[in-house]
Amino acid sequence: MCGIVGYIGNRNAVPILIEGIKRLEYRGYDSAGIAGISNNNLFCHKSVSKVVFLEEKVSKLDLDTNIGIVHTRWATHGEPSIDNAHPHVDCKGDIAIVHNGIIENYDLLKTHLESDGHVFASETDTEVLAHLIEKFFDIDGDFELAVRNALKHVVGAYGIAVINSKEPDKLIAAKNGSPIVVAIGKDEYFVASDVAPIIEHTKDVVYLDDNEMATITKDGYTTKTIDNVPTSKKVEEVMWDIDMIERDGYDHFMLKEIHEQPVSILNAMRGRFDHGNECLVKLGGLEGHEDVLAKFNRIVIIACGTSWHAGLIGEYMIEAFLRTPVEVEYASEFRYRNPVVDSETLVIAISQSGETADTLAGVKLAKEMHATVLGVCNVVGSSIARESDFGIYLHAGPEIGVASTKAFTSQITALYLLTLYIANLRNVTTLFNCNLVEALKAIPDQVASILKKENEIEALAELYKSSENFLYLGRGYNYPVALEGALKLKEISYIHAEGMPAAEMKHGPIALITKDMPVVFIAIQDAAYQKALGNIREVAARGGKVIAIGTEGDDSLKEKADHVFYIPKTIDMLTPLLSVIPLQLLAYKIAVMRECDVDMPRNLAKSVTVE
Ligand code: F6R
Repeated sequence: MCGIVGYIGNRNAVPILIEGIKRLEYRGYDSAGIAGISNNNLFCHKSVSKVVFLEEKVSKLDLDTNIGIVHTRWATHGEPSIDNAHPHVDCKGDIAIVHNGIIENYDLLKTHLESDGHVFASETDTEVLAHLIEKFFDIDGDFELAVRNALKHVVGAYGIAVINSKEPDKLIAAKNGSPIVVAIGKDEYFVASDVAPIIEHTKDVVYLDDNEMATITKDGYTTKTIDNVPTSKKVEEVMWDIDMIERDGYDHFMLKEIHEQPVSILNAMRGRFDHGNECLVKLGGLEGHEDVLAKFNRIVIIACGTSWHAGLIGEYMIEAFLRTPVEVEYASEFRYRNPVVDSETLVIAISQSGETADTLAGVKLAKEMHATVLGVCNVVGSSIARESDFGIYLHAGPEIGVASTKAFTSQITALYLLTLYIANLRNVTTLFNCNLVEALKAIPDQVASILKKENEIEALAELYKSSENFLYLGRGYNYPVALEGALKLKEISYIHAEGMPAAEMKHGPIALITKDMPVVFIAIQDAAYQKALGNIREVAARGGKVIAIGTEGDDSLKEKADHVFYIPKTIDMLTPLLSVIPLQLLAYKIAVMRECDVDMPRNLAKSVTVE
């Protein structure tokens, strides 16, 4: 939510900032703005809607500056408008700030500042910070001290970048709850919400910790806590390449990421099987924690959205394989309901971005309650990854499409590996482990074979693109896939869709079935197959249109469903890795046909860093 980029160095900051913020647009696209310092004067320009409008505006102004900040907004306080767009400036027009997060006590701060004579131009929480910094700068005339003093008064989450025309050679960044990375170039530095905008310039980064501030000039940087204690930071190397964050000829990032899945699933497994015994899984991130992992008798999985769906699959798998009880919780509920968690509980936090506010808060709560936390994240160095006791990275590469696709299949793959890993620690190894490993290794090719049949999905999309409601039904391991299929359709095509366990349909939703209601059934030949056929008959008997996802070779399914899309056979546990692919494609194709903005769906943003 909200993207930030800052630059200080010898080059003109404006094109660097504009290109950079375009790469962060998936974090929000309600409005955008840029500020810099030219001839000791602050300039600030803003536009509503996507970054391209800001780019257009700025391109006519011939701006030149060696220091600047830029922002793309996902609105929280105040509608998307020029006034509410960042950067926000102080009364004198010297200080400009961009912010990601929420200042919870902004009302109180605003009242105090207004009574001191500060005049506000926006409805945002962020603007209080600009005035607060101004207030302290007026007292001490020291920019760094002013930012520090201001932040001490703030309750809430922030990732900020600030500049001040009275100290035009300093860029200040700080973090509490919302991510900030400082990137180190040659005689130049960048700050950003994540690494996407900086990897074309440098791979060397430091991640700020909570309550930490960086003061950056073009000659170097220092980091300190908000309480002015110097900190020492490890410079880390980003492993992502620039081509990973390009569309690479695809119309949308979502389509590119759907097509990347044969490779991203492979990457989640790469190097994670023991050379001596390929049935054994090794997970580097868990090394040294074997004793802890062997002993848990209860597991709680916390996540949101698509990651929560992956968690549900994890629950079914872990319980079936390890016989350890698992609960899957929405992180937003978990964190506020006084859950039963103690030192005997393993909490698994699943998050692609590693920044989702509710999941991060759930991790912190679990740790306060003495649980051990295992993070399953894609973004290396993200807050959840760093807050967890240990974890597994997905290695899926950057996921930029707002609708999550490749992260889902990588999360499930990571959970399979984790299950096998713990099974081995507990000596629950059977011949089945080896079968599972064999079947897992075959998945990337099987996914590739499904992707080759994209045209079949396109034809289905053409038939059903005008429907206003969809049901998605599945059983067992494919019930979470039904939820995921419905979520994909909702979020990018704005069609109402509901996913549910197929047998639940009889308990109410069957009343919705008419000839205008397409029902997507995952009816593969697994343990629940016969029951699923029964559910299909119930829908067909009421005139509903059935789109079935079936197992290759199951010709009889064609007689029961209006349409069948076939996927290859695998073992039951692994079927979600295949059955979700046609559902991702169906949502994508329908959204494109309805002329929806697939990569930037309305009201959404990737990485929900607010509650
Ligand atoms: C849906 C989607 C969201 C995310 C959710 C959690 O396509 O992308 O539902 O899955 O916001 O995000 P992460 O996994 O980053 O914690």
